Amino acid sequence: MRRILIVGNWKMHKTASEAADLVHRLSVLVPKADGVDVILAPPFTALHAVAQALPRSSPFTLAAQNLHWEDQGAFTGEVSAPMLKELGCRSVIVGHSERRRLFRESDAEINQKVLAALRHELRPILCLGETLPEREAGRTEEVVTGQLLGGLAGTSKDGLLMVTLSYEPVWAIGGGRAAPPGQVTLVHERLRAVIAREWGSEAAQAIRILYGGSVSTTNVGGFLASPQVDGALVGGACLDPQSFATIIGLAQGAAR
Ligand code: 13P
Repeated sequence: MRRILIVGNWKMHKTASEAADLVHRLSVLVPKADGVDVILAPPFTALHAVAQALPRSSPFTLAAQNLHWEDQGAFTGEVSAPMLKELGCRSVIVGHSERRRLFRESDAEINQKVLAALRHELRPILCLGETLPEREAGRTEEVVTGQLLGGLAGTSKDGLLMVTLSYEPVWAIGGGRAAPPGQVTLVHERLRAVIAREWGSEAAQAIRILYGGSVSTTNVGGFLASPQVDGALVGGACLDPQSFATIIGLAQGAAR
């Protein structure tokens, strides 16, 4: 059975001191999270402060929101996997639609990032999702399958078992308009079928596929009710400790 995973993507929010404050408040509300996994993904500049602020018994682990594929070198402004590892990150978000759209990241670059993360035993959380015009043109399946195969090219079965996928339709992000759980279930089924074809049915059954896009306290239960949805990648709602704690509580209620 796949354990439910809730990831909070803070995006470009919170200074280091604000981040520590948020984590202190969240830790009071969520001292334990039995039965589910919870990951916090603050900005690079707050990773150290968050690691320091987490109580020793914290149920939360740390992720970064991006990485560069080289370990070091003349790449001004970039951050590498070994740097993230040393800060205590265990996972890293790769290929978020904001990186694809605003920073022109290609599937080939995203693939290099996935492979770099795996080389350093960081668990990649690979984001996939279609835009509204792509959906309206009936291209959802083609787009997410292309992103999946492009992003995971050259990944072994063992590597794949370290990966989490997050289906985040671009049109559902940030606007309060979440995708209907039924549509999400169909896309997740399709992704699992492609994984079964490429990496085998064991891998397809093992990999966690999250949903992201306007996840809230009121809709998360509907997503987690689908056996195809193994958790959520939460944006806006993770910045409020009370909302995020409620989402974690609901995930625990849905735990398998
Ligand atoms: P929102 O939950 O704010 O829509 O953001 C979703 C997202 O992009 C998470 O990575």
